[in-house]
Amino acid sequence: MDIEYVRSRFVKHFDGTTGSVYASPGRINLIGEHTDYNGGFVFPGAVDKGMVAEIKPNGTDKVRAYSIDLKDYVEFGLNEEDAPKASWARYIFGVCREMIKRGVEVKGFNTAFSGDVPLGAGMSSSAALESTYAYALNDLFGENKIDKFELAKVGQATEHNYCGVNCGIMDQFASVFGKEGHLIRLDCRSLEYQYFPFKPEGYRLVLVDSVVKHELASSAYNKRRQSCENVVAAVQKKHPHVEYLRDCNMEMLNEVKAQISEEDYMRAEYVIEEIQRVLDVCDALERNDYETVGQKMYETHHGMSKLYEVSCEELDFLNDVAFDCGVTGSRVMGGGFGGCTINLVKNELYETFISTAKERYKEKFGRSPKVYDVVISDGSRKLC
Ligand code: GLA
Repeated sequence: MDIEYVRSRFVKHFDGTTGSVYASPGRINLIGEHTDYNGGFVFPGAVDKGMVAEIKPNGTDKVRAYSIDLKDYVEFGLNEEDAPKASWARYIFGVCREMIKRGVEVKGFNTAFSGDVPLGAGMSSSAALESTYAYALNDLFGENKIDKFELAKVGQATEHNYCGVNCGIMDQFASVFGKEGHLIRLDCRSLEYQYFPFKPEGYRLVLVDSVVKHELASSAYNKRRQSCENVVAAVQKKHPHVEYLRDCNMEMLNEVKAQISEEDYMRAEYVIEEIQRVLDVCDALERNDYETVGQKMYETHHGMSKLYEVSCEELDFLNDVAFDCGVTGSRVMGGGFGGCTINLVKNELYETFISTAKERYKEKFGRSPKVYDVVISDGSRKLC
């Protein structure tokens, strides 16, 4: 995240003056995938890669936005009918609208931004962008009266209302609440959260990026969410207190087996098991039992691949390579359909694993995976 670079572009692109600079990170998730919109637990942390934006009110009612990485410039108004066409600009527009809906008097501004979260890699570059602007607009136009949870919800509502993804709260939450050296267990039903120091001795966390982009995955994602809601609706007939899959167990799922599709059954089975795995991993971490953590990660991969069906050939391959190399834990991370595996690797195995994964992946798919070491970092903030 390079402030000087963003500043130099901002100064060059606009009127030569400077504004305020804000940043928000992408995220990893140790375990708890597709559990957030089911009221379950997630276990993410913010990373050292993110978005940096310089912003300055311009005294008009227009936003003038420059994407440094895409070299694309867009201007838009702040009313509902002013939505820009460029998908990157819709994130900024959506955040403006959601802040306005919450009573913030957003005015026109000039802005330039750049990021180093790899796009489509499952590390939530879009949440980083949303959180950056939500945090900035709250500071510049809202006297910081919107609390951090609501800022995360602004990002989530932007996805729902302006970008067509019915996502949960995990990515925006992790981006806003991130804390250096800590993972955060979030209960997505009560929104209670707890920071867990995460400095596994003798191990490293590393992402292996399949470089398969998951950009076209939003309809498949929304379909998974729909399956979960179908199951909840069926279970509710007998158990009216059930609001989310979080409130169901396998016995309740089996009671409705005949009334739901086989596909919906598989989706719900995965979610019910995955919610439990997050709790098991937290317990194991408290005992420094990384073998159990790793085993649960493999179970998650299996569930995401076979029951939730959000993996792909390339990610399954990377997971197999990790297993063959003796890596402690490995699984597809984030929404799926592409992006990275997250791997918990013993220090002494690290070099062999990375070189083997690169070599075998290249041999099979003709291109090299990318590798990112995980550095757990702070959440949204003002840089200057
Ligand atoms: C995406 C969504 C999150 C979450 C994950 C899967 O990243 O934005 O809300 O559902 O997928 O865990």
